[in-house]
Amino acid sequence: MIKGQTAFITGAGSGLGAALARRFVSEGANVALVDLDQQRAHAVADELDSDKVLALGVDVRSSQDLYAAVDATMAKFGQIDTVIPNAGIWDYNRSITRHSGEELSEIFDEIFSINVKGYLLTVEATWRRLIHSRGSIIMTLSNASFYSAGGGPVYTASKFADRGLVMQFAYELAPKVRVNGVAVGGMRTDLRGPKTIGLDSRSFADSLDRWGSSNPFIPLHDISTDPATFTGPYVMLASPKEAGNITGTIIHADGGISARGFRTAAGGDEL
Ligand SMILES: NC(=O)c1ccc[n+]([C@@H]2O[C@H](COP(=O)([O-])OP(=O)(O)OC[C@H]3O[C@@H](n4cnc5c(N)ncnc54)[C@H](O)[C@@H]3O)[C@@H](O)[C@H]2O)c1
Repeated sequence: MIKGQTAFITGAGSGLGAALARRFVSEGANVALVDLDQQRAHAVADELDSDKVLALGVDVRSSQDLYAAVDATMAKFGQIDTVIPNAGIWDYNRSITRHSGEELSEIFDEIFSINVKGYLLTVEATWRRLIHSRGSIIMTLSNASFYSAGGGPVYTASKFADRGLVMQFAYELAPKVRVNGVAVGGMRTDLRGPKTIGLDSRSFADSLDRWGSSNPFIPLHDISTDPATFTGPYVMLASPKEAGNITGTIIHADGGISARGFRTAAGGDEL
């Protein structure tokens, strides 16, 4: 489906981005693994066939870094077919009631500069290559792109903003480039918080432990939280054969949050 493609994946040193890099290589694609933490990107790349991967240290807040990464990707693989803006941080559900205005201002600047400006600049640095390859963009969104309580106000606003970017770029880059999103739910990853409030040393994986292996708040209680199990929609959307007529679409991979009932999350618990 995507054999011979080259994918440019941000945040590929960990969690979902790393799982996507492994999956795309296993499907026969080449992958540029782009991450702020170059060592982690290298560690993931070292597991894979060195001819098929390129690990790059990039801060997605820097247009200059992204341009250099695109040049390096073109030099090694000669094309870019799929771009996956995915690097992000979370706000650990910090409600507006927990911070002063000054703190919120810093949290906003840090989260928006990675989650929103990072996506914007990733697309800016790559769209010309995608016009040439008639490729596609697949943005990692979140349940927090649609619903409350998947984060605090700043994270939620950032992921709603990313949803806006999917729609706007699907319009601006049509008809040559398809632009879609995958709104993923809770995954056991190393997702971090803002440095400005000391949450960069906390890992999201610990937050999921309270549910054990079953989440009562989503209809599909027992879905895996392994990020590898969230990669299927990306492969499908990246394939012109499977998704050539799909743009401006967001696939929800979140255990069915939109199908929750009013009294219980799942109506069929007794079945
Ligand atoms: N983990 C979840 O439950 C969950 C749920 C919904 C959405 N998401 C989204 O999934 C995406 C991936 O997150 P994850 O859960 O795999 O977390 P993760 O922390 O495991 O991976 C994110 C990667 O992004 C990198 N990164 C952070 N800032 C960067 C920057 N400025 N420049 C380049 N790279 C940077 C990190 O170094 C890290 O390797 C994010 O967009 C996140 O919002 C995660």
